Amino acid sequence: MTDSVAVPVPIPTPFVNNFFTLTHQFYADHRSAILIATGTVLTGWLYNLLWVNRRLSSSSTLMTNKTVVITGGSSGIGYETAKDLARRGARLIIVSRNPKKGQAAVAKLRDKSGNKQIEFMQCDLCSLDSVKNFCNAYNEKESRLDVLINNAGILFGLDVVTKDGYNSIVQANYLGHFLLTNLLLDKLKQCKPSRIINVSSSIHSKDPLYGAVGLLRFVIFYPLLYLAKTFFAKTSKRGAQTIIYCAVASELINSNEIYFENCSPQQPNQICLDAQNIDRLWKASCEAVGL
Ligand SMILES: NC(=O)c1ccc[n+]([C@@H]2O[C@H](COP(=O)([O-])OP(=O)(O)OC[C@H]3O[C@@H](n4cnc5c(N)ncnc54)[C@H](OP(=O)(O)O)[C@@H]3O)[C@@H](O)[C@H]2O)c1
Repeated sequence: MTDSVAVPVPIPTPFVNNFFTLTHQFYADHRSAILIATGTVLTGWLYNLLWVNRRLSSSSTLMTNKTVVITGGSSGIGYETAKDLARRGARLIIVSRNPKKGQAAVAKLRDKSGNKQIEFMQCDLCSLDSVKNFCNAYNEKESRLDVLINNAGILFGLDVVTKDGYNSIVQANYLGHFLLTNLLLDKLKQCKPSRIINVSSSIHSKDPLYGAVGLLRFVIFYPLLYLAKTFFAKTSKRGAQTIIYCAVASELINSNEIYFENCSPQQPNQICLDAQNIDRLWKASCEAVGL
């Protein structure tokens, strides 16, 4: 048996005393500011919890015999959408760049939902060749496409020029999906009433800071956006709600609405409704992707 002896650790009394005195002094000097800041953070947190992330729709519509393609289904909002649709019995094709991450997501989805009809297909939206290869493979292999969810996207990224000569954010978020949708259009038409869901962001209609260019984007826009996300951002699960609603709601079969937020139709930015803009964008996009 060994005797153990507790050796008292000397407490640096002056340091502790100084710390408490300074903290107390700081609180006394800035009491109002501290209370206002604490109140603001608490209110923001409650607002986020009870309003921004509220549950919106709880339909139990099944998706058996429906085939759904979800770009960017390997993480974030796309993954949460896939999880919900898998539980409704849909056949799912998860499309993203990274095969390892995609396969892991598929394994997890199969495991969680018990649905074995989930597959991964690789496609890099930043490469027009990759999009064409994916669409050729899909059209050859798959007999149906009932819902196409164009969800993949880059929110914070560097402006890299792709090998096709376009800004990588524009190509991943828009041009790649434009080509992909057009190349899968016949399959969608064969499965009418089919749906195409383009995931956007409410930020598209609040654009003053999007004008921030170059370095300003990193010192003004991104930090502000991160800050705003604390109070106003939804979790991926809640962010997926409107996509799921648009994919499954039976009342939308004959709807003419084109833009949804929080599971209900909204007005998009007026720029998107201008016939001349639409025509110019369509032609420029066709030219850019070689259609
Ligand atoms: N999160 C938000 O606060 C928020 C708010 C409003 C709108 N949105 C929109 O919601 C969508 C999903 O956002 P998220 O936050 O869930 O994104 P995320 O977690 O970053 O996931 C992005 C997904 O897109 C894929 N992806 C990215 N670049 C790709 C490319 N070039 N080719 C193929 N796949 C690519 C990624 O796959 P790999 O990992 O394999 O690259 C990943 O699966 C985006 O369109 C975003 O703009 C998000």
